[in-house]
Amino acid sequence: MGPRRSTYGIIGSVRPPRPADQLAAELGPQGVLLAERDDTSGYATPARGVPGRPVDVVRPASTEEVRTVVRWATQHGIRLLPQGANSGLVGASTPPPDAEGVVVLTTERLREGVRIDPADRTAVVPAGLRLSELNELAATHGLWFPIDLGADPSVGGMVATNTGGARMLRHGDVRRRTLGVEAVLADEGVSVLDTLRTYRKDNRGVDLTDMIVGSSGALGIVTRAALDLAVLPAETACAWIPLRDPADAVTLLVDLEARLDPLLAAFEVVSATALAAAGAVGHPLDLGDAPWSVLVEVAGPTGCGDRLVDTALSSPVDTSGAVVLPQDRAWAPRHAITSGLARSGTVVGHDVAVPRAALPALVTEVADTVRDTWPEATFADFGHWGDGGVHLNVVFPPGRTVDDAVVDEVHDAVFSIAVDRHGGTFSAEHGIGPANRSWWLRCTPAVDVALRTALRDACDPLRILGHPGLP
Ligand code: LAC
Ligand code: ZN
Repeated sequence: MGPRRSTYGIIGSVRPPRPADQLAAELGPQGVLLAERDDTSGYATPARGVPGRPVDVVRPASTEEVRTVVRWATQHGIRLLPQGANSGLVGASTPPPDAEGVVVLTTERLREGVRIDPADRTAVVPAGLRLSELNELAATHGLWFPIDLGADPSVGGMVATNTGGARMLRHGDVRRRTLGVEAVLADEGVSVLDTLRTYRKDNRGVDLTDMIVGSSGALGIVTRAALDLAVLPAETACAWIPLRDPADAVTLLVDLEARLDPLLAAFEVVSATALAAAGAVGHPLDLGDAPWSVLVEVAGPTGCGDRLVDTALSSPVDTSGAVVLPQDRAWAPRHAITSGLARSGTVVGHDVAVPRAALPALVTEVADTVRDTWPEATFADFGHWGDGGVHLNVVFPPGRTVDDAVVDEVHDAVFSIAVDRHGGTFSAEHGIGPANRSWWLRCTPAVDVALRTALRDACDPLRILGHPGLP
């Protein structure tokens, strides 16, 4: 009997064919890893969460090889879970623990043919290149891809999940900076959608690039992207400013924007608990006993650092505790928060956004709720207040059992404050995955679900692509 469709994809009636026999000849020895033969733990373990079971992995090295794999998966009813650098935080790039017949398709070997066009300030980049590698190449032309985050994702993963990061306030998210894509679909012809143009103006109706960006590999496997680069600033300056009241952060933000525009590059608000977690993993920053601090960055022409200092010091809020630091030292504690929290216990994370004026009430109300409901937990909030985003982390001490029921309760409490009370989103920048699937189902209107289903029917009628738990 052949494969059949179920709610979550394709279920084979017999153990599905293994990739080794069928694909090794076509992809070569490096193209296939087998669960029982090779160490595949890195492909099976999510960045946040428990290690998964070993998994079969296919590693195509060209767009044509991706098509070969998709054709094979279509024939045998095998679910292909696309994976970039596996640095996402909602569990979307690793197989669910009980998954049968799921094979990881890593894009890590799609690395040939980077093209940077300095005159155009654009790049065409294979999916497997890492952000840091792209930025090294771009820097030789005085350029960079201005998405900044603690991890080092692959370009394909960034496009598929529409990464945001800490410079979104100034430079936008990956969606805003993606000019075109090449993606392999799982339609009947295993088509290659090619919108790899590098011009910024293109007004020919519905934008299929945009359809692929943020689709988590469920509509097509991103193999290349055309990206809008930015000029490396001549000067960058950073300051940490301790604050007593989160409302002061919004006042400071509005004032700095008004007086520093367009120099303001980042505005990150970090609670003392989040900062302490970074300190515990080797990145201490002593800002006294302030309950919150702001990391402000300006970037632009020479002299912009002096403007930051003058502007911050004449702000309507008390900025007398401000500390100016070189860029790498300023960002090291900020980027260490996620790993620091993971070391301190079991993290139940939330990546939300609300209108900026609602941020002080949001963090205060969530902190109160956590203290009242889970007194054994620590609450650590930090994030990108400049764009309205904040990460709300509830950290349970080691040894405390945090099962799915607890996670659901915490999610419901936190998301309902952000979404229902403050009109925000349950996924600001981390995308959709098992970690927030239930809230996707709850918050997504029926017409949106129907349109997404229609898109999937067009691009992947057999449900070969993407995480089996994803809509
Ligand atoms: C950050 C990740 C958690 O902002 O998005 O550090
Ligand atoms: Zn973030």
